[in-house]
Amino acid sequence: MTKATDLTLEEQASLTSGADMWHTKPVERAGVPAIMVSDGPHGLRKQVDEGDPLGIGGSVPATCFPPAVSIGCSFDPDLFARVGAALGAEASIQNVAVLLGPAINIKRSPLCGRNFEYISEDPIVSGVLGAAYVTGVQSQGVGTSLKHFAANNQEFERMSISAEIDERTLHEIYLRAFERVVTESKPWTVMCSYNKINGVLSSQNEWLLTELLRKQWGYEGLVVSDWGAVNDSVAAVAAGLDLQMPGTQGKSDAEIVKAVKSGKLAEQAVTSAAQHVLDLVATATKQAGQVAGPLDVDAHNQLAREAATRSIVLLRNEGGILPLKPSQKIAVIGAFAKDPRYQGAGSSKVNPTELDTALAAIQAIAGDVPFAEGFSLKPGASDAENAKLQAEAVQLARDAEALVLFLGLPAEHESEGYDRATIDLPAEQLALLDAVVEANPNVVVVLSNGGVVAVPFAETVPGIIEGWLLGQAGGGATADVLFGIANPSGKLTETIPLRMQDTPAYLNFPGEFDTVNYGEGLFVGYRWYDARELDVAFPFGFGLSYTSFEYGDASAHVTSDGDVEVSFSVKNTGTVDGREIVQVYTGLELSRVQRPVRELKGFASVALAPDQAKVVTITIRREDLAYWNIAVSQWVVEGGRYTVSVGASSRDIRSTTTVDIVGDVVRIPLTRDSLMSTVMENPVAGPIVQEKLQQAMSAASGLSEIMPEGVSPLQLIGSIPIGRLSQIVPIATDHEVDELIAAANQHL
Ligand code: BGC
Repeated sequence: MTKATDLTLEEQASLTSGADMWHTKPVERAGVPAIMVSDGPHGLRKQVDEGDPLGIGGSVPATCFPPAVSIGCSFDPDLFARVGAALGAEASIQNVAVLLGPAINIKRSPLCGRNFEYISEDPIVSGVLGAAYVTGVQSQGVGTSLKHFAANNQEFERMSISAEIDERTLHEIYLRAFERVVTESKPWTVMCSYNKINGVLSSQNEWLLTELLRKQWGYEGLVVSDWGAVNDSVAAVAAGLDLQMPGTQGKSDAEIVKAVKSGKLAEQAVTSAAQHVLDLVATATKQAGQVAGPLDVDAHNQLAREAATRSIVLLRNEGGILPLKPSQKIAVIGAFAKDPRYQGAGSSKVNPTELDTALAAIQAIAGDVPFAEGFSLKPGASDAENAKLQAEAVQLARDAEALVLFLGLPAEHESEGYDRATIDLPAEQLALLDAVVEANPNVVVVLSNGGVVAVPFAETVPGIIEGWLLGQAGGGATADVLFGIANPSGKLTETIPLRMQDTPAYLNFPGEFDTVNYGEGLFVGYRWYDARELDVAFPFGFGLSYTSFEYGDASAHVTSDGDVEVSFSVKNTGTVDGREIVQVYTGLELSRVQRPVRELKGFASVALAPDQAKVVTITIRREDLAYWNIAVSQWVVEGGRYTVSVGASSRDIRSTTTVDIVGDVVRIPLTRDSLMSTVMENPVAGPIVQEKLQQAMSAASGLSEIMPEGVSPLQLIGSIPIGRLSQIVPIATDHEVDELIAAANQHL
């Protein structure tokens, strides 16, 4: 195997940028081949014309699986791994070495134009499912690219905006999922994001790419830039970026060589980047061709359908309107039934091998049901045109027993590259809904949307199915759920708010003057709504079924590894097979740090036949209980009695128990600025100061006179820096204080 040190500086530098849009550069002299990468994430987008400079031309047909927004609602790592393996197989057959996904950025605001590519507002969900995806793809000898590292939570000014995030929030919300996927599944590559984090571009961020990713998380793979994310190639290599994409026609390579020769850039940085490229090429070459073609189009389409079925979230089912019966007089309204929105726009857009429509699938089950378009999907359609379509739909609605009304976001409403302006459905669709409901209230709304939409009709219509963007086989999956051929089991990986004004980032999105302030801190998604006790349309974790589930009492205990095992029974108390996504949340009321009321720590998707009961055991990893302590810049598990809540959603807690956790010992170096509250917790200084205080108290000093009875002296002096203690409570001289600090720090 070629080592970077066997290559000349020029050859090493040549490896640090691509040959073109999708390939690394070969080094022919040394027998190093080029490899190809392609998008990702929910299907393979291998360009037909590799010379297409913008990379937006046509791509080879590939299975379009449900995008992350949808399949995330399965909460099922096994399904992610199976879909990942199928994606890996397609890439392997096409000789693509690395699939550019998964995208696991947190959904901070519902307005982010790319939320359809992201999994959740919660880092544990994104981390667990992202890790399973990576494992699945890589099991086929194809690499992944974990993206966009990090804090790429909006499209507005995405290539320049600085995400201003405090340290705790950054680790606990925006980095946690990345840390999990990196350490658990070892993606072959990590793709840095476009944006800046606290003023520094991710592509040139040494703290992010080297300190954190490599040194703290132990990452050994390759770091690739997002396409066009590098501003200064020399600074990028110095910071720890290995591969700049797309290619720069040799410009960046020459700059790198020049910088090394002039002493501006350490040669070691170039060697290290080149070595990571060589390692990737070697791994990819060794594993290439693991899957023999041709692609089994039907089998993958079946898997896409299964995944789509598992993605659908039943939001409302009043009066048993669902499932529909094929014998009913049904009418279908809404352009999406015929012209489905099944994926988002931008770099992830796949050229599907097949495409279902819900209308055809419904007709295959229920015969020749009538259809009216209801509204036009043509951008800029006139009011008159929409009024005509609406009138036709209302006419149809009048003589049906039940209506299936397909509403959603037209394609131009959301895409990579820009954010949405509103979470509202288009006015003509809401007007259609009102008119149809007036004509016939037996309406089931089926939604197609990548970003969350407001559902002001949530109390008006008896049935709502959140279909998200379901991939190429979504039409069949939707029909299966409508008629009860499949029982819906998806749950929401993000909160559906009542109004934009309630959302966590409302006053801090999308930023101004090149800066976006993550002012809501840790309180993203349900963490926010729960802390502020805000009503929501549908909470995180929510989803209905055609059957019902009963939960038994939960018990929790700490294992010998320090993890927490939570057990409870779940029973299918209805009459049809079903799946329940059970969720475990924890909280620590008496915490020393600010905390959300409850945070998801584990989940499982449990399949149950009627009357069947299972005991479910969910393990919460000890590290997932940790918060990021900024005094020591480390994860710390705080000791205390944690509440463990088992629920069917974040707002439907079925059983609660507690577990006592022994905390980590945090040794914070003492200085003269350390507060007495910190000093008292120090194992060396604490007891000494305690004793001196006791002495002062019993010597009837002024201290005991000014203290209310029953109050510990610590409450009074806790916020005094020890360096100033002698000025206020003269229990130790300045010199004694210095000695105490030195003694305490000796034991760090
Ligand atoms: C996107 C990435 C994508 C890359 C290559 C970028 O615009 O942000 O997600 O992988 O293009 O197409």
